[in-house]
Amino acid sequence: MKRFEYVPLQFIAKKIRLKPAKVEQIMNYLLKFRLIKRKTTEYIGYALTYKGLDAIALRALGVHGVISKVGPKIGMGKEGDIWIAYLNNKPRIIKLFRISKESFRQIRFHRYYYVGNRRMNWFELSFKSAYREFNALALLYRNGVHVPNPIARNRHVIVMEYVDGRELIKCRLEEPLEVFTRILNEISKAYNAGIVHADLSEFNVLVTVDGEIYIIDWPQYIRSDHPDAPKFLIRDIQQIVKYFN
Ligand SMILES: Nc1ncnc2c1ncn2[C@@H]1O[C@H](COP(=O)(O)OP(=O)(O)OP(=O)(O)O)[C@@H](O)[C@H]1O
Ligand SMILES: [Mg+2]
Repeated sequence: MKRFEYVPLQFIAKKIRLKPAKVEQIMNYLLKFRLIKRKTTEYIGYALTYKGLDAIALRALGVHGVISKVGPKIGMGKEGDIWIAYLNNKPRIIKLFRISKESFRQIRFHRYYYVGNRRMNWFELSFKSAYREFNALALLYRNGVHVPNPIARNRHVIVMEYVDGRELIKCRLEEPLEVFTRILNEISKAYNAGIVHADLSEFNVLVTVDGEIYIIDWPQYIRSDHPDAPKFLIRDIQQIVKYFN
């Protein structure tokens, strides 16, 4: 299929077999909600926005019975937003990746999978990150590593189990040594399952009231058999040791 940065109005009209005037009317409606954006230079063209992409992915997840309601936004990270969603009043976490020019600058340094993909657009990079994090979570969860259970993925959105805990950085621990040992144990289990986190810190560990720990935020993982894995493994461990020191 032909690719455009902004898809010409005429092209859309032909593709969906509607009169250009009718297409314009629909587009004006979508524009009002900022689900798309318009460019009028040599021609009138439209492009999907992240908000529009969110709407498509969330609708698909709703239709597939994964979520039935979206709740509050609880986090804004370097490369995505975290929201609570519900299925029959049971909370779930949705992570919507939004890689852009700005976030890309911050994250590209430890993203091997971007190398050689210069022609990918931001949406595709967001799809790829979601895909990677979902696959990492699935592999880790299958191997008994304490991570949120991944439930579904659609485009740039992943849905996972809600962990009723707080980020390690925000916790006053009763048994710090116990928690420290548990984290090291999970790092070791993840390594044996074939994965090194590569961005571990007190921000990416959730601690429950019982002192159970969950490691989150995996899109930048690297495989244990990668030549740089030892370097990242050591860095992950150092980050945790530094925090408890
Ligand atoms: N499964 C979950 N259950 C409960 N809270 C979660 C879950 N996943 C993420 N969160 C909350 O959302 C925050 C951000 O999540 P995460 O670290 O995955 O995203 P991020 O975009 O990489 O953020 P950052 O750039 O700040 O690291 C977490 O610190 C945590 O407070
Ligand atoms: Mg994080």
